[in-house]
Amino acid sequence: MDRPRRLMVAISGASGAVYAHRFVQVLPDSFDTIYLTASDNALGIMRDELGLDSLVDFVPKESMSKFTLLSSTDLSAPPASGSHDYDGLVVIPCSMGVIGRIASGVSNDLVTRAADVCLKERRKLILVVREAPLSLIHLRNLTSLAEAGATILPAAPAFYGKPETVAEMVDFVVNRVLQALGLDTRLVRGWGE
Ligand SMILES: Cc1cc2nc3c(=O)[nH]c(=O)nc-3n(C[C@H](O)[C@H](O)[C@H](O)COP(=O)(O)O)c2cc1C
Repeated sequence: MDRPRRLMVAISGASGAVYAHRFVQVLPDSFDTIYLTASDNALGIMRDELGLDSLVDFVPKESMSKFTLLSSTDLSAPPASGSHDYDGLVVIPCSMGVIGRIASGVSNDLVTRAADVCLKERRKLILVVREAPLSLIHLRNLTSLAEAGATILPAAPAFYGKPETVAEMVDFVVNRVLQALGLDTRLVRGWGE
């Protein structure tokens, strides 16, 4: 690939801000530009769960130059257009509200518009969903998105690696996201390795 590698990462209003925090720590080596945005609910949850007040606090200081922080309402940002060449979008964690809006084509903010772009342009759309239990409406929306080409990646750590800390459980999920992006990663050992 001879163009710069660009990825959009969106943090939505589901529990699990720690997944996004770890993800953006391990991502910079693989991309030239990372567009990062968070919904207002996500910012509130980041404050509650991690004690972080803004997206600036979220980004690793040594890689700050790779990140472009975007308002979730900025529909003129580059990833809102299919003409801007980028590799895809990861929504981590992904709320059922966002799932419903993407599944019904409601592109009313940057996250849902970028997701719409990724589906229509056949780019990677990885949705790290977190909700329990799931209603029939959630399941139908998830099915529509899987049929349209999205990867539905539940924030559900496995236990066969015998994790001893929350950090290890978080790494399991983040590692699966890196794998879904096609990146060579070894945050955790795969089964049989
Ligand atoms: C503390 C807190 C935790 C939440 N956790 C979840 C969750 O795990 N999954 C989910 O689908 N919605 C969750 N919600 C609800 C969503 O934030 C809400 O439906 C919101 O409108 C989703 O839109 P957004 O993702 O664009 O912010 C939570 C809300 C709050 C305040």
